Amino acid sequence: MRRLAGATLEANWEHDHTVPSRTLYPHQWSWDSAFIAIGWAHVRPERAWRELESLFRAQWADGRVPHIVFNPRLPVGAYFPGPEFWASARVEGAPTIATSGLVQPPVHALAAWLAYRRAPSDAARAAMRRLYPRLVAQQRYLATRRNVGGAGLACVVHPWESGLDNSPAWDAPLAAVPADAAVMRAYHRHDTAHAAPAHRPTDLDYARYVAIVASYREGGYRDEDLPGRHPFLVECPLFNAAAGAAEHALARIAPLVGADPAPHRDRAARITEALVRRLYDPNTGTFQPRDLRTGRLIPARTVLGLAPLMLPDLPTPQARTVVAEACSARFGVALRMARPLPSHDRTAPDFEPLRYWRGPSWMNVNWWVRCGLLGHARADLAEGLARSMVGLVATAGCHEYFHPDTGAGLGSPAFGWTAALLLDLLAETREPAPVI
Ligand code: SER
Repeated sequence: MRRLAGATLEANWEHDHTVPSRTLYPHQWSWDSAFIAIGWAHVRPERAWRELESLFRAQWADGRVPHIVFNPRLPVGAYFPGPEFWASARVEGAPTIATSGLVQPPVHALAAWLAYRRAPSDAARAAMRRLYPRLVAQQRYLATRRNVGGAGLACVVHPWESGLDNSPAWDAPLAAVPADAAVMRAYHRHDTAHAAPAHRPTDLDYARYVAIVASYREGGYRDEDLPGRHPFLVECPLFNAAAGAAEHALARIAPLVGADPAPHRDRAARITEALVRRLYDPNTGTFQPRDLRTGRLIPARTVLGLAPLMLPDLPTPQARTVVAEACSARFGVALRMARPLPSHDRTAPDFEPLRYWRGPSWMNVNWWVRCGLLGHARADLAEGLARSMVGLVATAGCHEYFHPDTGAGLGSPAFGWTAALLLDLLAETREPAPVI
């Protein structure tokens, strides 16, 4: 399995980064690169640093790390929406290389910390010194410009920023975005040429995705006055758990580069406190996104709600109910699990086992929850989860996502982060320990 994973990463390596998939996602994606760096650290550590450094070279002047960095060597039309749609070159503060204008969950500081811990060296320390100020700027962007709700949580302005594009969590806020599926006749969707349309977001979803990007782009990707003019504004528990985990990781990294860890610990504590205050629902015992346009919590119980378990300072009462949610019939984490947890509540009427983030099991969120279980002294559950993840790839290969009941492989068949996190699991299951 290690050979399969290593070969998958090798095949997806592209001069200074790793593509998530040669067909579906042929450019560089932000949070994919972070998870992929965690995997490279096990086989070719120098690539972990090249992966992160190539991504951060495309960081904007305001600190945002774009969710896609376009490979200029690829032909126009290799991906939709491509560089011409984002038009980043027209924006002051954007890098010379074409990028999107959105961000993704900031898992990069955690990835850098794990890559360093796995393979410390002088070269790794030097890379860390170059990356640290950029990681800090990334966090500053999220903590200031994206603090749209004013409560200390980062707001996502597009479902693509959450990483879980078509999660049922976004159905209610998206329903308010005026769009018509027919709009997509004017564009050429590239994804449905490489994956079954029934496994991907719908044309109506895409019409809304395109409309939200257009709104943000027309405003020059500026974050001032978003509440008055932007159609999608949401505080997401996974995104903010990632921001909190990043501060914990930066507190570990700071002493390595001669910086003070204390401000990172303070910021981590503030994020955890804001997450509990703003997004924890005592009635359900789990975390739920908040729609800033209505001010209300979004009721869908998706896997996003389990993500704050990653935070080592999540208070015990919340950790306990989130573990109970993970173990419930909705997600089914158990000591000897047959399958990893699904992306959506399997008892919900809108659970769709084939459609992207509306039911299928994904390696990265399972890896994330497993880290959370380890950090909250549930190594027993973490082990069952890890076994089921390894079993899934053993049977189906390094697919992008998996049918949550049958385990059949879905989406891209040679997916970067599946391979990378498999390498991490195979190494870590020997001596499981908290990640931060
Ligand atoms: N996940 C998106 C896609 O499907 C892009 O970020 O293309």
